[in-house]
Amino acid sequence: MSRNRVRGPRRGSIPPYGPVLVTGASSGLGRECALELEHRGFQVLAGVRREEDGEKLLTESQHGRLRYTVIDITDDASVQASAELVEDRWGGLRGLVNNAGICVPGPLECIDGEQFRRQLDVNVVGHLAMIRAHLPLLRRSNGRIVNVTSGLGKAAVPFLGAYSAAQFAKEALSDALRRELGPTGVHVSVVAPGAILTPIWTKVSRAGEQALADTAPPVAGLYRSALQAFLEGNAQQAMASRTTPEDFARTVLRALTDARPRARYWAGADARRMARLARLLPDPLLDRRFRAVTALVGTPGTADPRP
Ligand SMILES: NC(=O)c1ccc[n+]([C@@H]2O[C@H](COP(=O)([O-])OP(=O)(O)OC[C@H]3O[C@@H](n4cnc5c(N)ncnc54)[C@H](OP(=O)(O)O)[C@@H]3O)[C@@H](O)[C@H]2O)c1
Repeated sequence: MSRNRVRGPRRGSIPPYGPVLVTGASSGLGRECALELEHRGFQVLAGVRREEDGEKLLTESQHGRLRYTVIDITDDASVQASAELVEDRWGGLRGLVNNAGICVPGPLECIDGEQFRRQLDVNVVGHLAMIRAHLPLLRRSNGRIVNVTSGLGKAAVPFLGAYSAAQFAKEALSDALRRELGPTGVHVSVVAPGAILTPIWTKVSRAGEQALADTAPPVAGLYRSALQAFLEGNAQQAMASRTTPEDFARTVLRALTDARPRARYWAGADARRMARLARLLPDPLLDRRFRAVTALVGTPGTADPRP
């Protein structure tokens, strides 16, 4: 993908410089963001979970300003090691892009406590751990935090209830942090992408099928047709999306460099539209919009007859 498609910071914005840490940089949006921020002049520390992903990223780096570190954001020791690395190398941090994420799909009846906790652990608790560990470094540099959420952080979609719950939580966390940290000079912005074609969609389809396979057949049978149609529709929506990872990277760049950073940026018209609908429509009307998704959900009488 051509880096030239991404525009630079707008007039009145702070020139990019200094170290920025991007989590979840092994693939999709995080990868694009890490490479783009490097291209725009930042020193980039790319957080990956496997050395081989970091080495691959190095081969794609074009400016010698990108390094990687192995971080699992759900592992406190690894989070702490990242903060120590930044302290040793730079002594401060200009930006922290909390991008890493997973999506646990499926009807909430099919998602057990362990899966639900995993969803919240990665998409919420892990990010708070990253923020807490790196805050002293961000404060030293008047740094910025960019929390990547989703259009689903404002509207809970059926069959993505666990993911929506995590995104709502991350939105709330971001609002509270922005208010708490404002007086200290650390800005907090949310970047909410709409559907963008990345590997996450294949993972979601696979995990949705697995959720059905792991659920007792009579219950799985209630949801099978509806969930499969939903997953297929989702994949098609992602493939048809006009929003690209470059658009996302450009939005993160703005959040990091705008002279007056906004509380919230959208990467994709669908994300903005979803949030607007959730704000404006009363619940019964919003429910009606989602009825097509659940139209195929069976009743106990139509449950999978297998034992
Ligand atoms: N793509 C979209 O349409 C879309 C829409 C709205 C929001 N988002 C959000 O955008 C972010 C990036 O998504 P994406 O589409 O780029 O997905 P992706 O291609 O699946 O990338 C997810 C990244 O998160 C990393 N990750 C997962 N668990 C982690 C952990 N415990 N610690 C550290 N890193 C971890 C993954 O690392 P591994 O490769 O090691 O698993 C990977 O680098 C996510 O937060 C997602 O919720 C995406």
